[in-house]
Amino acid sequence: MTPVLLGNLGVSLALAFSLLGLALSLLAYSQGDGRFLKGAKALVLPTFLAALAAFLTLEWALLTHDFSVAYVARNHSAQDPLWVTLVTPWAALEGSILLWGLLQTLYTLLASRKSVDPWRASLVLAVLFGIQVFFFGVMATIASPFQTLPNPPADGNGPNPLLQNHWMMAVHPVLMYLGFVGLSVPFAYAVAAMVVRRYQTWVGETRWWTLIAWGFLTAGKVAGMWWSYEVLGWGGYWAWDPVENASFIPWLLSTAFLHTAIVQETRGAFKAWNFAFVTLAFAATVLGTFLTRSGVIQSVHAFAEGPVGPAFLGFFLLVTGLGLGLLSRVSREVRDTVVFRLLSREGALLLGAFFFAGWALVVVLGTFYPLLVEAFTGAKVSVGAPFFNQVSAPIGVGILLLMGVGPILPWRRPRAEVFRNLYMLLAVLLLGTLLGLLRGYTFGASLAVGLFLYNTAAILLLVREGVLARLRAGLSPWGFLENRRRVGSLLVHFAVALMGLGIAFSQTYRLESEKTLYRGQAWEVGGLRLTFQGVRALDEGRRFAVEALLETERFGEVRPRLHFYPQMNAPLPAPKVVYTPGNDYYFLLMDFDREKGEWASIRLIVTPLVFWMWVAGGLMALGTLYILWPAPRREEVRGVSPA
Ligand code: HEM
Repeated sequence: MTPVLLGNLGVSLALAFSLLGLALSLLAYSQGDGRFLKGAKALVLPTFLAALAAFLTLEWALLTHDFSVAYVARNHSAQDPLWVTLVTPWAALEGSILLWGLLQTLYTLLASRKSVDPWRASLVLAVLFGIQVFFFGVMATIASPFQTLPNPPADGNGPNPLLQNHWMMAVHPVLMYLGFVGLSVPFAYAVAAMVVRRYQTWVGETRWWTLIAWGFLTAGKVAGMWWSYEVLGWGGYWAWDPVENASFIPWLLSTAFLHTAIVQETRGAFKAWNFAFVTLAFAATVLGTFLTRSGVIQSVHAFAEGPVGPAFLGFFLLVTGLGLGLLSRVSREVRDTVVFRLLSREGALLLGAFFFAGWALVVVLGTFYPLLVEAFTGAKVSVGAPFFNQVSAPIGVGILLLMGVGPILPWRRPRAEVFRNLYMLLAVLLLGTLLGLLRGYTFGASLAVGLFLYNTAAILLLVREGVLARLRAGLSPWGFLENRRRVGSLLVHFAVALMGLGIAFSQTYRLESEKTLYRGQAWEVGGLRLTFQGVRALDEGRRFAVEALLETERFGEVRPRLHFYPQMNAPLPAPKVVYTPGNDYYFLLMDFDREKGEWASIRLIVTPLVFWMWVAGGLMALGTLYILWPAPRREEVRGVSPA
């Protein structure tokens, strides 16, 4: 059987099973007949296997250089190294949709194992099968990964060289998709909860899924920032370009949901917010895919040229309409009747969620405004980084402020001793900021120091209180570590404060210098002395590399490169970054003497504290893993509530 036949068979079977699963789950719900639900559940594994077969077939076509498959011809070359070939399924549109579909079937498989009452189980399955119908439907009709070419070329171009330039390509997109797709599970539960009008339990039941999805999204975002830093050669990690924004929006909304869900779990409040946030977070993943995959970013007219853009836009509207439509139907029943104090944990959590949602709205507006203007007037306008930075800075400060006090404040109303803690934290914030100012930092950087110390102090206070409470009760202080949510979230919060510090300093203090050096010439810049020793050329098969040999006193030999890919006119920079806890040294080869290798233009970018942003990314992942790790059986101790 050829890959085309097998791949198409996999996609068609996955679509057929999903359609059948959808019909059976809806029947199970409407007829109240358990046999239909059993039938729907029985289809979950075959759907996954069909999707897996389709995905492996695409890998097979790539590994065997089957250029009769259009996707292989467009995105693969026989010269590609093995790892590039293996990750090529997600290098372009059709393969990415296949990966999405495969992961969706995997999540459906895992989610279907969880036992909830048959009514909701049928509806959850109906939503998840429905999402699969969309993805496999798109693959079966307008974006097939297995289209054939009548006249296959002898070799293809390979994926976009930018994607081949760094191993992060193997990791970053998969993490993002695992996060995107993961949000479908809490969304499905939310829909089921609204239909059957049982509003309370679903947030607790889906907490694991929410955290998994959020954890993958966070890891994917940080990995993407690092990829951008290492690969794109501009010495930055975030440019507010639409592709970055597209995945930032669901991250912000899911962070809002993560927090309001805690209030519903604990106090039974914020039900309406949770339905709204989970719908918008999942819908935003579809919107993000529309934005990055419809060609609309290059030009709004590209959107009209292919059917994929309109299909995704339609699906986005369907998801949003379903979630928000159901919410408006039940809005009277889920309305909060209790009035909240701002100075309470729930008050801080809700205000924080508004900050996240407001930020998401700003990013949506800034990203879509140029598209709307172009669509209606034809004029090209751009909303640049200065706009996003200006709006984001106060929102970021607000979030960092709330993050410190939120976990300190008790539920309902503050007790007297809490005020003492709050005053102390305020003093740390002011002193930290003053310290920064005295050291000559800008106000923004000084505030970042203050906020970092303030959040660290808040965390230490919470740890101290938790440990003291256990000691007072005659228990081992280590038992504090068993409260996984508390300890893990403190680690994540600390990481956020650390990242805030890294962002503030790296954005404020950045030294960039460029010089043309002749062989043997020395250059002193940013406290670093380097000598240019010449250039070296290397033929690496699929590309040609030129590296500058720079001898530094501090780091030994450093070799920034330029990569020449046959399919690109201009060379791609391959910067060399030397990470240190104080400053990052980012070396770039800009140009060189093509005849004798006697000179080279070198750019050096020295940026402080970027190193800590990647440490913070790792801590966030660690904190999330800690929360997710199965808890040991809790000691039931009256009066020792770490929360
Ligand atoms: C958990 C507050 C910002 C990630 C929590 C908890 C509170 C809280 C009170 C529950 C802790 C416990 O039960 O012991 C806030 C406030 C924020 C904020 C008021 C600012 C608006 C952030 C940010 C992130 C984050 C920016 C990550 C980027 C988390 C995570 C959890 C958590 C992962 C654990 C959730 C769970 O286990 O379900 N937060 N936080 N928080 N927070 Fe935050």
